[in-house]
Amino acid sequence: MSSLHHLHNHHHHHHAHHENHHHHRHGEKHCQSTILTPISDHACFVTIELKDELKSSSNGKAMKIYFKLVEACLQIMERWNKEKCTQFAVGFGYELTNSILGNIQDNSLDYVREYMQAEIFPQYPKDLKGKFGGFPNTGGDLFLHIKSVNMDNCFRATQDFANHEFISPLIKKIQDETYAFLHRRNKKSGLGRDLSGFEDGTENPKEMEEKIEATLTNEKDSFLLAQKWVHNLKFFNSLSLKEQENDIGRTKEDSIELENKPETSHVARVTLEKDGDEIEVVRQSMSFGNSSQHGLFFISYANSGKTFIHQLESMVGKGEYATPQGHNDHIMRFSTNILGSLYFIPSIGTLLKMREKLTSYRPSRL
Ligand code: HEM
Repeated sequence: MSSLHHLHNHHHHHHAHHENHHHHRHGEKHCQSTILTPISDHACFVTIELKDELKSSSNGKAMKIYFKLVEACLQIMERWNKEKCTQFAVGFGYELTNSILGNIQDNSLDYVREYMQAEIFPQYPKDLKGKFGGFPNTGGDLFLHIKSVNMDNCFRATQDFANHEFISPLIKKIQDETYAFLHRRNKKSGLGRDLSGFEDGTENPKEMEEKIEATLTNEKDSFLLAQKWVHNLKFFNSLSLKEQENDIGRTKEDSIELENKPETSHVARVTLEKDGDEIEVVRQSMSFGNSSQHGLFFISYANSGKTFIHQLESMVGKGEYATPQGHNDHIMRFSTNILGSLYFIPSIGTLLKMREKLTSYRPSRL
């Protein structure tokens, strides 16, 4: 279970065709495929609400439903991660995770209960807002993060999931389905630019070991913040270059950190330091939209969901990382958050454990 072993396995993921056999034999060691892979040209983000009655029951029937849900997730992941240049990941919302755990009797998944108790997987804030707006909690039970070289795979993988015989009867509605693209990829850094023109992802950890440390728990589980932001580019573009750079905290052309960045700059507000060390996350946000509505679909993985809550609080001048004056993030002057939630991204090992523990007792054939 060492990071090194993981790293080794991961490398094969890109280069060896037989990786998938490998993947299955050692599946327990793997995190979901979207977390450590590079940013793609296309992505799809799907927020799904399940029927209400599914989330409150703990009985034999519920157990069977959750078993089927987990089984279907594993099946579709296997199918699509085999597809060249596509990664498919599933996240579980707080309520759903809680209900699944409620149907598992033994203590084999106590570490997941611990995430919730220790607020490593916290509930999303209900009504967090500041001077320029807030972060509406729009819920969501399942979240799909699909990355690919083309939109075709993104669309088909989404259909595959939503129409799966085990999943389709459970869906109340697909709340949001956003097809996103990497805007103006820089050939050298491989990163894109937000529609504001600023490079996004500059400060992400680059080395595999740093990425693993930033995103995974010991069990290779992860947490995902997904937020849809709509930009007012007319307003942003009316600002002077200096004002724009002060709002972000980096230069526009080369993404160099400003020496005297204002406390209201985005970078100042979301950089969290603990005992002199920066708390790292891995962001994979993408641009979306058309001429009348567009913006950034913010996507980020971390080894604790609490980090995201601290960043969001800091953006609106609240919580333990706020300045005494309660500075608000000036990014929110030009962008409005319209959808958001926090998800648990179980490792393949955790999913296999869930599946095993949700299998109702059947007398063996022997
Ligand atoms: C409209 C929405 C957003 C836009 C356009 C945006 C854009 C950017 C840009 C241009 C940078 C600087 C380059 C880089 O290091 O990537 C950045 C950095 C960053 N953003 Fe955002 N961001 C948005 C929302 C968020 C949210 C909601 C969070 C967290 C909850 C966040 C967390 C971060 C972090 C942690 C950094 C790196 C800071 C550092 O260590 O220097 N961003 N963002």
